[in-house]
Amino acid sequence: MSHAAPVAESEYDYTVVRRFAIMAVVWGVVGMAVGVWIAAQLAFPALNFDLPWTHFGRLRPLHTNAVIFAFGGCALFATSYYVVQRTCHTRLALPWLASFTFWGWQLVIVLAAITLPLGMTSSKEYAELEWPIDLLIAAVWVSYAIVFFATIAKRKTEHIYVANWFYGAFIIAVALLHIVNSAAIPVTLTKSYSAYAGAVDAMVQWWYGHNAVGFFLTAGFLGMMYYFVPVQAGRPVYSYRLSIVHFWALISVYMWAGVHHLHYTALPDWTQSVGMVFSLVLLAPSWGGMINGIMTLSGVWHKLRTDPILRFMIVALSFYGMSTFEGPMMAIKTVNALSHYTDWTVGHVHSGALGWVAMISFGALYVLLPRVLGLQQMYSIKLINAHFWLATIGTILYIAAMWVAGIQQGLMWRAVNPDGTLTYSFVEALAANWPYYVMRMTGGLIYLTGMLLMAFNTWKTIQLAGQKSTATQAQYA
Ligand code: HEM
Ligand code: HEM
Repeated sequence: MSHAAPVAESEYDYTVVRRFAIMAVVWGVVGMAVGVWIAAQLAFPALNFDLPWTHFGRLRPLHTNAVIFAFGGCALFATSYYVVQRTCHTRLALPWLASFTFWGWQLVIVLAAITLPLGMTSSKEYAELEWPIDLLIAAVWVSYAIVFFATIAKRKTEHIYVANWFYGAFIIAVALLHIVNSAAIPVTLTKSYSAYAGAVDAMVQWWYGHNAVGFFLTAGFLGMMYYFVPVQAGRPVYSYRLSIVHFWALISVYMWAGVHHLHYTALPDWTQSVGMVFSLVLLAPSWGGMINGIMTLSGVWHKLRTDPILRFMIVALSFYGMSTFEGPMMAIKTVNALSHYTDWTVGHVHSGALGWVAMISFGALYVLLPRVLGLQQMYSIKLINAHFWLATIGTILYIAAMWVAGIQQGLMWRAVNPDGTLTYSFVEALAANWPYYVMRMTGGLIYLTGMLLMAFNTWKTIQLAGQKSTATQAQYA
C-alpha cells in the first residue's frame, strides 16, 4: 500500500456528502413511517381510508422505493463520496456533477412520491417508476459512476482500498441492471410496456430484482462496512486477503442466483436448479465477509460495552449472516415450496433490510455526520444507545412475527383432509395471522421511534455545528 501523505481535513469536499447524509435521515423517517402505515393496514384495513391514493397496493411500492432508493440510496451516495476521497487521499472529482447527482436523485424521489400514489407504475417490482423517471435515473447513475471513477483515477495512493471495489461494483452493476430491465416502449408520458414478454420478462425482472438485492442492498453496504467498521473499531480489517476473496466470489456468484425467485414457474426446470445451486454457494462468500467484519474487533471487544455505534455495526453484521443463511435455505426448491407467497419471505426481507442494511447505515452515518459537520461526535451518545435498543427490539419483533405467520400460512395452505379436500380456507389462514400482523406493526413502530430519535439527534448536531462556526467567526472577527 502506498504511503502518500494524508490530505488535510479541509482539503476534502464534504458539501455533497453532508447533503446526502442529512437526506438519508429524512427519507428514512418518511419511508419507515409509510412502512408502519401499510403494516397497520394489513391488521386494520380501514386505515386505507377507502381512497385510491392511500390504498395498500399503491403505498407498498412507495414504501419499498422510499426505504431502498431514497433512504438506502442517499446513505450509499453519502458514504461512497466520503470514503472514496479519504481512501484515495484526494478531493472529489467534478463537484458540479456530484451536485447534479444530489439534486437529480432528490427529484427522482419526489417524482416517485407523486406518481406511485397516483397509480402510475410499470408494475415491475423495485422498478415501478415510469419511463421518463427511468431516463432521469440513468442520467444520475451514469454521472455518479463518472464522479466516483474520476476520483479514483486521480488518487494519490497506489492502492485502491477494498471498500471502493465494493462501491465500484455496486455502481456498475446497478447501471447495467437498471438500463436492461427498464427497457420499454412508451405509449404516453405516463405509460409504457416492457420490451420483454412472458417467461423472458420474468427472467429479466428477477435477474434485476435479485441483483438489486445483491448489489444495491449488499455490495454497496459491504463497502460501507469495510470502511466504517475498521474506523470505529480503531483496528485494520481482520484479513485483507479474505476481503479480496470475498469481493470476487460474491460478485461472480450473485448474478446467477436470481431464478430462486421463480421456482415452480414456467421457466425451464434446469434454470431453477442452477439458481438454487448458486444460491447455496453464495452462503460461503457471504459468511466470509461477515466473519471478516466481526473479527475486525479482535482485541477490542470491550469497546462494545461502551460504544453503541460499534454495537450497531456488529449487530448489523450478525443480521447479515443470519439473512444470508436463511436466503440459501429458502432457495432450496422443497423449502421454497413452503415459503414462497408467505410472510416468511417478508420476514427474510426485513431481517436483511432492518437488521443489516438500515443498521449498518445508522452506524456509518453516526460516524460520518459529525465529521462532515466539523464536530467530534453526535450531539447525544445516550440517544444513539436508545436508538440501538429500539432498532434491535423492533427488528426482532418484526421478523419473529413474520416467521411464525409465514410458516403457519404455508402449513395451513397445504394441509389436506384424507379425502383430498383442503383442511383450511384461505380466510381461516388469514385470520390465524392477525395477531402476528399486530406484532409486526408494533415492532415497526418501535423501529420508527428509534429512527425519530436519530432525526432529533441529527437536528441537534447540525445546530451544534452552526453554533460552533458562529463562535469561530466571532473569534476571528
Ligand atoms: C419501520 C420499519 C418498516 C416497516 C414497519 C415495514 C413494513 C413493511 C410492510 C408491511 C411491507 C409489505 C409486506 C407485504 O406485502 O405483505 C413491507 C415490504 C417491504 N419492505 Fe418494509 N418495512 C420497514 C422498513 C423497511 C426497510 C428499512 C427496508 C429496506 C431497506 C424495507 C424493505 C422492504 C421490501 C424490499 C419490501 C417488499 C418485500 C417483498 O416483496 O417480499 N422495509 N415492509
Ligand atoms: C446468500 C444470500 C441470499 C440468498 C441466497 C437469498 C435468497 C432469497 C430467496 C430464496 C428469496 C425468496 C424468493 C421467493 O420465494 O420468492 C429471497 C427473497 C428476498 N430477499 Fe433474499 N437472499 C439472500 C440475502 C438477502 C439479503 C442480504 C437481503 C437484504 C436485504 C435480501 C433481500 C431479499 C428481498 C428484498 C426478497 C424479496 C423479493 C420479492 O419477492 O419481492 N436477501 N431471497
